[in-house]
Amino acid sequence: DPLVYLLIPIAYLIGSISFAVMVSRSMNLPDPYTYGSGNPGATNVLRTGNKKAAVLTLIGDGAKGFIALVLARWLLGDDTLVGTLNSWVLCGVVLAVFLGHLFPIFHDFKGGKGVATACGILFGINWILGLATLSTWLIVAFFTRYSSLAAICAAIFAPVYCVFLFGVESMGLTLTVMCVLMLWRHRNNIVKLLDGSETRIGSKKT
Ligand code: G3P
Repeated sequence: DPLVYLLIPIAYLIGSISFAVMVSRSMNLPDPYTYGSGNPGATNVLRTGNKKAAVLTLIGDGAKGFIALVLARWLLGDDTLVGTLNSWVLCGVVLAVFLGHLFPIFHDFKGGKGVATACGILFGINWILGLATLSTWLIVAFFTRYSSLAAICAAIFAPVYCVFLFGVESMGLTLTVMCVLMLWRHRNNIVKLLDGSETRIGSKKT
């Protein structure tokens, strides 16, 4: 059914909703583009000191990835998990919702780094894949207190977990593309990590 291709632009529109911007506006917090890293994401919203706003941003940006994938898998028909994962439409939905977050049509194409959205996407594909990747993030974040380093490590491991769990070529490749996009988005963080000026979780300094 060619109508399933409509899932791709729909996923892009879902991904384009920035919860960092919406939550900040609704809670009368400063615009996330104007402080800290300038990134519209949960880590930066936390730099206002408002934990509730950061958690709501994290949940919202994660939920859009999760919802796009669950919706797509339901509409595509989910006979066998591996069969569905091999669907290029599903891979297209993954990249579309992720790129929506990175380049949102509703916010002058100035989006975030995709960490929360990627987490939601992975849980939407398969809960074991989501849990394995989230655990990687949590372990690195716990020991180093660097949100960005945790994201970089989790992004690298996600395609590896996917291939080990399912041996799925198309989804493994798609998650590799997502990983490369995420590393590129974290290029400033990588420079800061290397010169020791990256801020740790909970620190309000920039
Ligand atoms: O969630 C994005 C995180 O990995 C880095 O964010 O604001 O420290 O650049 P930020």
